Amino acid sequence: SDATLHAIRGAFLDFLDDPYYVPEPESVRYIHDGLMVLENGCIKALGDYATVRAEYPHVPVTHQRDRLLVPGFIDTHVHYPQTEMIGAYGEQLLEWLNKYTFPTEAKFKDKNYARQMAAFFLEELVKNGTTTALVLAAVFPESVDAFFEEAQQRNLRMVAGKVMMDRHAPEYLTDTAESAYTDSRALIERWHKCDRLLYAITPRFAITSTPEQLRAAGKLLEEFPDVYLHTHLSENLKEVAFTLELFPECTDYLNVYESFGLVRDRSIFAHGIQLSDSEFERLSRSGATIAFCPTSNLFLGSGLFNLKKAKSPEAPVQVGLATDVGGGTSLSMLRTASEAYKVTQLRGDRLSAFQTFYMMTLGGARSLLLDDKIGNFQVGKEADLVALDLQSTPLLAKRNPVAVPADFQEMADSVFATMILADERAIAATYIAGQLAYERDAKP
Ligand code: GUN
Ligand code: ZN
Repeated sequence: SDATLHAIRGAFLDFLDDPYYVPEPESVRYIHDGLMVLENGCIKALGDYATVRAEYPHVPVTHQRDRLLVPGFIDTHVHYPQTEMIGAYGEQLLEWLNKYTFPTEAKFKDKNYARQMAAFFLEELVKNGTTTALVLAAVFPESVDAFFEEAQQRNLRMVAGKVMMDRHAPEYLTDTAESAYTDSRALIERWHKCDRLLYAITPRFAITSTPEQLRAAGKLLEEFPDVYLHTHLSENLKEVAFTLELFPECTDYLNVYESFGLVRDRSIFAHGIQLSDSEFERLSRSGATIAFCPTSNLFLGSGLFNLKKAKSPEAPVQVGLATDVGGGTSLSMLRTASEAYKVTQLRGDRLSAFQTFYMMTLGGARSLLLDDKIGNFQVGKEADLVALDLQSTPLLAKRNPVAVPADFQEMADSVFATMILADERAIAATYIAGQLAYERDAKP
């Protein structure tokens, strides 16, 4: 039966629990010279090289020499139609949406254009080591088909949905409560649980949906309880003020979503910069997730996310890390992690390298309730992984003189420097469901 198996040898780093709450020696697993056996895209065995090799003496082995193998990164909030408008100058959220975002998203009515951009976006993700993302498409159902078709072709585990918006946006970009319901329903039936793909009901945010449309979103959630709810929450002060004007009967921003049954464990809310204590507590009780988008929050001048508050042991809120491109300024989860660290520094709390890598991997998987399938190297899970090069630039080779330190503390230090300094050049290879999908130094 060894004929159907293959294996990867190298140094393996993954997480068994959250190092924010569980001491690192118990939550972090590091195997300096390990062997991972793969079967049908899943992990069949993992352990010290000598031990696992003795059990599988004939399996063909790829040696990822001088590489650190980590679980594929999980981006819990990103807009694929905004790829081409990344880095748009000079505005904060509401003006930025009107000036740059809406005109760009209009292009995604054209299915061919959407497919080309989806392909480009997914290639960029894989090159950056991201193997799963929670993705907003545009308002057009064609833009969702285009995305899922390209993701399916690459065998990626992706979650996505059609943006619902029926007011406060240009007419060329709006749907109705009725059409958003009908179109989302058809997309769920076509794509949800098709291969590795999953669907997220995606009202853009409270400002751009009428109460009727938010009610339709709630109805879909009741009819399809295992799809996701994905939206934005409390990002920018002007946005919060306008939202409360539009929903005067609601006590705060989160209460708008609560009143339509949209706040549950499979709900992911991007940002949460301006949340009150009460909103944090209610998010904690609901089991919902906040997607922390540091490059976006800094670039759009939205503010500094209070990670310490979200992580408080008394009322913990699930947090995923996210790029939020095109409000965010990089598709790289390493670049994003670097900015997350700086945000926590400004808040007088500081993330460790392992806490951050947890957020990029198992924490993201838990946020999406996918930790039975992805997020770490437990036997039986899908084998999405990244071969990191800790010496990917001349400067990093000076900073990290040993390619793969044997010592746990030295490894923590090298991983931290990589997170602070590296970009996509640190991604030497990406595996999707056990298959090599990208190689930085591939011969042309
Ligand atoms: N709020 C509503 N839409 C958007 C968007 O496209 N990007 C960000 N960052 N916030 C939003
Ligand atoms: Zn966003």
